[in-house]
Amino acid sequence: MTKSMTVAICALFSGLLFVLPGTGRAAAHDEVITLDQGWNKASRDLFYHTPQGSPIMPYDWFLALEQPGAQALFRDNAYLESFGMIPWGSSKRNPDGLPIGLTIDKSITGPENQLGMNCGACHVTEIVVSGRTVLIDGGVSHFDFWSFMEALLESLQKTHDDDVVFKRFADRLLGTNADGEQLKGLRARLRGVVQKRENWAIRNAADVVPGPGRVDALNVILNQVTAKMIGRPDNARPSNAPVSLPHLWDAPYLDVVQYNGVVPNAGAGAIGRNVGQVLGVFGEVSIVESILPPGYASSVRVDHLIDLEKTLETLISPSWSDLADKKLLPPLDRKLVAHGAKIYGRECAGCHVKINPRKRGKLASIPVKLIPLKTIGTDPAATLGFVEREVATGPLEGRKTAFVEGAPLCKRTHARARGHLSCGDDRCDEV
Ligand code: HEC
Ligand code: HEC
Repeated sequence: MTKSMTVAICALFSGLLFVLPGTGRAAAHDEVITLDQGWNKASRDLFYHTPQGSPIMPYDWFLALEQPGAQALFRDNAYLESFGMIPWGSSKRNPDGLPIGLTIDKSITGPENQLGMNCGACHVTEIVVSGRTVLIDGGVSHFDFWSFMEALLESLQKTHDDDVVFKRFADRLLGTNADGEQLKGLRARLRGVVQKRENWAIRNAADVVPGPGRVDALNVILNQVTAKMIGRPDNARPSNAPVSLPHLWDAPYLDVVQYNGVVPNAGAGAIGRNVGQVLGVFGEVSIVESILPPGYASSVRVDHLIDLEKTLETLISPSWSDLADKKLLPPLDRKLVAHGAKIYGRECAGCHVKINPRKRGKLASIPVKLIPLKTIGTDPAATLGFVEREVATGPLEGRKTAFVEGAPLCKRTHARARGHLSCGDDRCDEV
């Protein structure tokens, strides 16, 4: 595993984060083949459907919503598969049999269940081998997150704006005998949800269309934290650097993660990273400080994130020999395998460390090699967007960088700053 990065960087507002408590598939989900990756049915169910605190919209509404411009339901598997989602069966966690990565979540603003999204949507994939569908846990998903969000917004807007569509939606939710007051109330609430999703779309406007399997994750997270949370829309930056969804096996054993190597895995690192991810995927945070526990009220389910992270620790990479043992591939040709291993050792291993999935040692113990941007030569947009970012601290000005300790934040802070800029800092005086 290697990462590319040019400069030492610290996560903007990291202190704040850390204190916060289809691909032409061939089979129905029960015929999907799973590989020997260290998981069983229970670990899969947990990883696919545990809510992480990412409320998108009321859950019941999602079930009643139509596809934009059609009467068929949005939740129909064939439609969701068109965004690369993987249909899955029902369980106690997933009573309505939604695809992998959709969850029943809670909101901090009300008691009603919300539709949520979790790790499974972006970090599980399937491939078709010899006409059979094989699930790869922790693999690079084909999920087209951006198109999914656009379609969802379009559908919500149409439901709100079009009387006929709204009536069908209301009938499904309230029954056909709802009175005028109830209908008016529902439409007003719908307006609120449309607004929330519109704001998200504006804040994260993408001038590069990500397509399947890619998203400018770190930018979306930073927009959520630095623009939405603190009410500073001017801090938002366009999502112009979508990156491939990475595979997740071995990740908890690496010392740092993310393509730019910015997030340490040790200590609170993994949970901080996950909290950031949750905020990116629609988490809600109030910036009203709470004293017990110290931090900020939030929809983020830290307890669930710990469960999700723990499950990841037991996940191992899929192996070609497992595919051969399951008769999905012909027996492996030992000579060719040895030849390939030599090429890998010569061309790749200098950067991509070989990891034995059964002997990974301690968590956060495998040193990740950071390759300078000019050596790797791949598109630097994501890394530069991250390190060049400077934002106004808004209502957080003067608050301690690590909530209970650390220097107070000044008017503006920059990702390149070593630690956070404190007031009186040269750079502070400039801005
Ligand atoms: C909307 C899609 C999406 C969701 C949902 C999501 N991730 Fe990710 N994840 C990404 C992307 C994209 C990256 C790469 C970001 C980068 O490094 O620039 C990433 C990176 C990671 C990494 C770092 C991997 C490495 O080797 O650097 C880990 C670990 C991870 N995610 C775990 C999780 C967990 C655990 C969850 C659920 C709690 C989750 N992700 C939910 C898209 C997602
Ligand atoms: C000079 C170091 C270096 C060498 C040599 C190298 N890689 Fe990489 N590779 C990277 C880095 C760094 C990344 C992360 C992506 C980025 O920063 O652009 C990466 C990413 C990848 C990815 C993920 C791409 C994606 O979009 O998800 C694959 C697959 C990969 N490398 C395979 C290989 C193979 C196979 C070889 C040998 C033939 C190889 N690499 C040689 C540094 C290297």
